[in-house]
Amino acid sequence: MAPTLFTACNTLPPEEVVPPKGGLSVEPAPTLFDSPLALPSGGAGLFISFEGIDGAGKSTHIAGLADAFEAQGRVVTLTREPGGTPLAEKLRATVLGDPMDALTEVLLIFAARRDHLVNVIAPALLRGEVVLCDRFTDATFAYQGAGRGFDLNVLSTLERWVQCDEGLLGDPAGNKPMKPEIETVIEPHLTVWFDLPPEEAAFRLAGTRVPDKFESQPVEFFRRVAQGYADRQQGHPERFARIDASQARDVVWQAVLQVFIGKGWLS
Ligand code: TYD
Repeated sequence: MAPTLFTACNTLPPEEVVPPKGGLSVEPAPTLFDSPLALPSGGAGLFISFEGIDGAGKSTHIAGLADAFEAQGRVVTLTREPGGTPLAEKLRATVLGDPMDALTEVLLIFAARRDHLVNVIAPALLRGEVVLCDRFTDATFAYQGAGRGFDLNVLSTLERWVQCDEGLLGDPAGNKPMKPEIETVIEPHLTVWFDLPPEEAAFRLAGTRVPDKFESQPVEFFRRVAQGYADRQQGHPERFARIDASQARDVVWQAVLQVFIGKGWLS
């Protein structure tokens, strides 16, 4: 059976630890600290998110990367936010379809994220897979924070709580209180940001589909969202790779590929 976050956890009480077959000495099971997240190299799990305003054209490149990783023998988990689990997909439909106040929206998005992290992202990383996630928490800072004007400090607090390694490795019943002082936040090894002027994105999107709640926002909203992404990049320069998405699709693809080749993750 594939390890889950909780079976892989090395903080289980002794009576729940299953000795390894063959009577070898008990090695501590991998945790998110020492398995995928501390080893963002070819042999370990990789967590990569993709960001950009609506219409920036990330989807085809995500699919292309999934093919490229699979061609090199890696197992890929392709997923998205909000969403990625049955519960989180229900929350996605609500968040994108129903009007609600900003705090409700933020709480639903982070609830979906928690479910996604616990049930899909963290287990896949523990199995050493490549997780390609269409949007993650930077989108919340860009859309709810910069776009809607929601308090960034509250978002940072929620980010810490929802993505806190300690919380993820807590007891399965969720009874173990998380420690707010814990600073280790699970975040992508790399965030590929497709940067496109909002006017260009609006032009590309026009008439292509029925817009959801965010896609129907005026261009001014997307200017703020784009600035939100720029601010996030400034705060996390080592994690972000900015791609000029205004170029032709082939040129954008080559730029994306070069980022992954440069990191030694694809050849
Ligand atoms: P998107 O990822 O663009 O999917 P699709 O291409 O199928 O429309 O749409 C998700 C929308 O959700 C997008 O408008 C951004 C928004 N969103 C937020 O507002 N906050 C978030 O935290 C996330 C993850 C997404």
